[in-house]
Amino acid sequence: MPLCKLPASGLTINYDEAGSGPPLLLLHAFPLDRTMWEPQLAGLADVARVIAPDLPGFGESPAAPFTIEGVADLVAEFLGALNVPKATVCGLSMGGYVALALARTHADKLAGLILADTRAGVDDSAAKANRTKAVELVNAQGTAALFEGMAPKVMSESTHATKPEVVARAKAIAAKQPAASVAAALAALRDRPDANAGLNDIAVPTLVIVGEHDGITPPLAAANLSAQIRGSTLVHIPGAGHLSNSENAEAFNEAVKAFLL
Ligand code: MLT
Repeated sequence: MPLCKLPASGLTINYDEAGSGPPLLLLHAFPLDRTMWEPQLAGLADVARVIAPDLPGFGESPAAPFTIEGVADLVAEFLGALNVPKATVCGLSMGGYVALALARTHADKLAGLILADTRAGVDDSAAKANRTKAVELVNAQGTAALFEGMAPKVMSESTHATKPEVVARAKAIAAKQPAASVAAALAALRDRPDANAGLNDIAVPTLVIVGEHDGITPPLAAANLSAQIRGSTLVHIPGAGHLSNSENAEAFNEAVKAFLL
């Protein structure tokens, strides 16, 4: 579990790393941490140097002011501190928002882009109001209670029915995240910038991945995203909901390998 001190911001990022080869940076979803990428650290280490950081305030990384664009700046600084000039950046959901911000503001850091279960658009007013309610809930009852309410939507019916260990693991990861960090991230999700305008400028190879039953960022959002990124490939993950990397890790890893090789 290495720690990386960022020289410019003075912040510390905790991360896991496995394998060697072209760097593959994995950016986690909300309200989880780097450990959601265990199936990828294990399953992709034979084709890449897989690097999975905890975003600020999550996992073992200390908290820091949290906005999607601010986190993208930190991720760029983190890559610099690791002496990684360019990486294929794979973000799932919130991680995808950060990856899209990175593509807008630090395009020179990207060798490729993998956008999993994410979207380019902003929250509408109902979604913003729900974020504010979620902040109240997490502050009052904690992250486990918040995620308990989210779980039926986050993972597909078939994952709930046939892979209870995947559901239990996601809940256990969420339960460890401090309420203050989760509340800060909720505000950042609510206020995130619209990424649509920059999609046309993405010039690196791009893979868009979506769980076929993703109820949070549905296949239609993924199709829209892919349609706006020149030359991108769209892959559906069978049986999976929003946490496609964990719900069907084999298919997810196969799609990433086919993209990287
Ligand atoms: C995530 O999985 O990171 C969240 O669902 C993102 C969001 O709520 O917009």
